[in-house]
Amino acid sequence: METLTTVEAVRAQVRAWRAAGVRVAFVPTMGNLHAGHMSLLAAARFRAERVVASVFVNPLQFGPAEDFQAYPRTLEDDEKLLREAHCDLLFAPPVSEIYPDGGAQLTIVTVRNLSGMLCGQFRPGHFDGVATVVAKLFGIVAPDVAVFGEKDYQQFIIVRRMTRDLALPVEIVGAPTVRATDGLALSSRNRYLSADERARAPAVHQALQQTIEQLAAGSRDYATMESVGWQKLATAGLRPDYYSVRDAFDLQSPRANSREVVVLTAARLGRARLIDNLRLALRP
Ligand code: PAJ
Repeated sequence: METLTTVEAVRAQVRAWRAAGVRVAFVPTMGNLHAGHMSLLAAARFRAERVVASVFVNPLQFGPAEDFQAYPRTLEDDEKLLREAHCDLLFAPPVSEIYPDGGAQLTIVTVRNLSGMLCGQFRPGHFDGVATVVAKLFGIVAPDVAVFGEKDYQQFIIVRRMTRDLALPVEIVGAPTVRATDGLALSSRNRYLSADERARAPAVHQALQQTIEQLAAGSRDYATMESVGWQKLATAGLRPDYYSVRDAFDLQSPRANSREVVVLTAARLGRARLIDNLRLALRP
């Protein structure tokens, strides 16, 4: 595996692969890789002959009071894991390579409506930062297929919609959430949890599971399910930002003809903000 840091070098390599007729899959990340990221690598490997990963902590998607500076940067460990996973190319650019004009990025990709709801309400500008860097990375890597984790479900839906709206020639694939044995979704930010907080964190998955059981049993009283889920998190000492049942396709409120619903939550616990979701197909 080669690690490249410039746009030009990545383009040259992918162009050579393309000329040889091989398919290229892409897994964008912010590094500090864990088993969740590695599952995306495996899904990518399954879909193409060559796999490109990126490690880039994107300043554009962090709010002024957020953890851009503190975000864990572990490039050597990441390279080792990627090599073991038979990744072919790592793109690990400095900020100046992606944003050469400093903060003066004039073009911003906004996926209207989807970017302002749920996490977007609590992290203004976050999804514009995500959509912009993903569009840019797609322009650099020019992959046939890109893999995103369903753990960040709103991000996955936004990227899929952006790709469709801009007619980008990239197939978007979602990969299931990888969890610890007690149900906590793996995340680079879990390292912000103290031992006591870590012991309480599985309440997120437990609350979601309970809501899914109620939905599976036929309940459609979304408002009550949402307040019960919220209470469960509050009782465990978490501070929920939202707890919401939505249509899994467009993240609007569920409709009578919704075929699949998703229960999404974000909750603060100490220095961490945990996000998670579970989906359920509804019987017609
Ligand atoms: P990051 O948080 O590093 O996540 C990179 C990818 O790994 C995302 O698609 C995310 O959904 C996926 N992922 C994280 N934890 C996972 C888990 N437990 N199970 C399955 N997949 C998981 O998401 C980002 O980076 C950035 O916003 C990015 C898309 C790279 C744009 O900067």
